[in-house]
Amino acid sequence: MRDTLTDDVPTSIVRSSRHFDQGSGEPAHMKQTISPGTGEPNRAIYSLGAAVTRFRPAARWLDEGERAAIELVAPDVRGQSILDIGVGGGRTVSLLTLLSSDYRAIDYSPTLVEACRNSFPNRDIEVGDARDLSRFDDGAFALVVFAFGGLDSVSHNDRQIVLREIHRVLAPGGYFVYSTLNRDGPHFDDRPWRGLRRTRFNVAALKQVARWAAMYGSTMRDHVKGWVKWWPMRGDVEDHGSWAHGPLTGPGLGLVVHWATLIGTAEEIETAGLSLVALFDDQGRRLEPTDTTVTPMFHVVAQR
Ligand SMILES: C[S@@+](CC[C@H](N)C(=O)[O-])C[C@H]1O[C@@H](n2cnc3c(N)ncnc32)[C@H](O)[C@@H]1O
Repeated sequence: MRDTLTDDVPTSIVRSSRHFDQGSGEPAHMKQTISPGTGEPNRAIYSLGAAVTRFRPAARWLDEGERAAIELVAPDVRGQSILDIGVGGGRTVSLLTLLSSDYRAIDYSPTLVEACRNSFPNRDIEVGDARDLSRFDDGAFALVVFAFGGLDSVSHNDRQIVLREIHRVLAPGGYFVYSTLNRDGPHFDDRPWRGLRRTRFNVAALKQVARWAAMYGSTMRDHVKGWVKWWPMRGDVEDHGSWAHGPLTGPGLGLVVHWATLIGTAEEIETAGLSLVALFDDQGRRLEPTDTTVTPMFHVVAQR
């Protein structure tokens, strides 16, 4: 039965991710740079039919950090315009429309957009790439959200393009809330045997994995398949210290993603002309850019 995202990832897509850093001797991140349009591995993976099963509209907070980030901005954005980028299957639709009915969503996966529209036929949900928000006016939104590591699907260079676009479409004082994979967290450059060792000692990490698995319906079978997809890509890590490119481990779908440290995140926010308001770990604890944290993913509140 083809019921998971990893079931449907063609080998050719996985291989093209794998070879992103081979060839002419240019810096690897230049070669991995992905442009808007078709034919790019992460977008192709998110456009597979099984993505719909994976990113169904669970209408639950990802974790306490996501809840804390949205609760922080809620009083300022209630009733105002919201843009939800990378809406996927629609997990965030019900959550964000509690704040405002002036809600628009985009995702670059036509498959996920179709599924999301079917679940929320009365909502404005369109195919669109975060790297090109030209359909939206300057200063159009009080809140832009890019949840659950969606921003990590684009390369380091394209990330700045996305952040500048978001800066442009935010109203002065508007907020950008997103989550990003932690370069210093347990899943960066991971190996299955490290995970096994870690879970013996780290009950919190085990609980978090179980929560995500319950929310997104992954099973032990998915995990094994995910690791099988990941194995040939395991060495394709390009690490710059404050940020990195590398394969998403575990049932990671064959994606090659971006990883950032807290400091790297503070820097990229500033480079894009935004101000850092707050950082939260997965438990909803406030973090400082200079902290060291092993949270798998952290949540960022930035302001124009
Ligand atoms: C991990 S899923 C999260 C889905 C949903 N936001 C959630 O929290 O459940 C990331 C989503 O971001 C979308 N995405 C990634 N890069 C994108 C881009 N450049 N433009 C628009 N959507 C993008 C993917 O298609 C996918 O639906």
